[in-house]
Amino acid sequence: MPGRWRRAWLLGLLAACACDGNALAAVQPAAQPAAAAPSASLQVLHWWTSASERKAADLLAARLLEERIDWQDAAIPGGAGIGAGKVLKGRVLAGDAPEAAQMIGVSIAEWADLGLLLELDNVASAGNWQRFLFPSIDALIRHRRHTMAVPLGIHRVNSLFYNRALFARLKLAPPQSWREFEAVAARLRAAGVQPLAQSSEAWQVAALFENLVLINGPAFYRELFVRRSAAAAADPRTAEALTRLRIVKGWGRGQLEERGWTDVVGRFARGQAGMLIMGDWAKAELAEYGQAPERDYGCAAAPGTAGYHLYSVDTFAMFAGDYRHQGAQEKMARLLVTPALQADFNALKGAVPVRRDAEPARMDACARASWTTFARGAAVQAPSMVHRMATDEASRDAIIAELHRFFIDERATVEQAQRRLAALFRLFNLGTQGAPVAQDIDRGR
Ligand code: GAL
Repeated sequence: MPGRWRRAWLLGLLAACACDGNALAAVQPAAQPAAAAPSASLQVLHWWTSASERKAADLLAARLLEERIDWQDAAIPGGAGIGAGKVLKGRVLAGDAPEAAQMIGVSIAEWADLGLLLELDNVASAGNWQRFLFPSIDALIRHRRHTMAVPLGIHRVNSLFYNRALFARLKLAPPQSWREFEAVAARLRAAGVQPLAQSSEAWQVAALFENLVLINGPAFYRELFVRRSAAAAADPRTAEALTRLRIVKGWGRGQLEERGWTDVVGRFARGQAGMLIMGDWAKAELAEYGQAPERDYGCAAAPGTAGYHLYSVDTFAMFAGDYRHQGAQEKMARLLVTPALQADFNALKGAVPVRRDAEPARMDACARASWTTFARGAAVQAPSMVHRMATDEASRDAIIAELHRFFIDERATVEQAQRRLAALFRLFNLGTQGAPVAQDIDRGR
């Protein structure tokens, strides 16, 4: 990146940074078993703070300790990394970058362009990563032909969970289309049950909207969220998705509060709502309530999206700094993609391995459906805008804010929301002239 752009980017970061003291959030050692004394330590910044996420992070810490690397934990609360992204910027600007950070999707390229990340080319080529990674995972961690991040797992954002006992009692089948979704919701409401556990928190509203857009297929989804085409914003399919977002809001009868995602999962687990649409990290959290897939709840693709995979891929990037940590950072990178760690970590996290040679027979039914669908390739895959897979950070924040505004303010019409999205898209694409971004994996068109 030329110097003047880099300066402008850093200034932009400064302006966007909410340096509220969290930037220096306490760094605590993760719970670890006894092992040989560590020979190196790496500070890892991430946003896995729920009970299940904590267990998954602790597994990574324990496996690293077996390699004599001490995981210094810098966990920043906030679903979808809302807080972690800001804290990371603050820390880097203060000259206090962690050695490793959860950094996902297009944001990897943004950081890589600043020249701050460690290139992992040697590890990736020696380990022949390209041979076993899904092609779209390989594309996601590469920037300008360099490997810039380590992939951990694939989450399916278009996951529908339903309460099995309730569905059996009311003789309901999991809805496979929008029409069935509406019909099931009506039956649940008639039985006095809230149809869908949902929060009015901005990123969770936008995540629901992504699911509604995906009903029209990954090609249209990409027009809207990856290419950010003004024509797609004006399209009747976008109008339909916005209208449906309002319909789902109506099912909450004005009761939708701004809850963290773990609270939303809790409401579903306690039977306070019959269905839940959320990334499959919810599955790991449901295990914390003693619930198991197929026994207590069923899982399926969100209505109208069977056969598609709306994904969020968790990745860690390493900060180069003065290269003192390079040996340990490369060791960590090697470890994270091994078949055993991939299988164990993803089973705890609710995600699936990034490897093409994973064993679906060892997965639960939800994970198996996710992994086999993802394995069908780019034509069925859709990168989650909310989880930074589709656009740069600034566009993502603006799109989420616009969708949230539409959701909250009933006076805002569908047409207005479409016009505002189209205007935003024109503005974003001014800079890039609609040039393909990292996630534009069908960029051959
Ligand atoms: C996603 C991430 C998941 C999970 C979720 C909720 O961005 O991929 O691992 O943490 O946010 O915070």
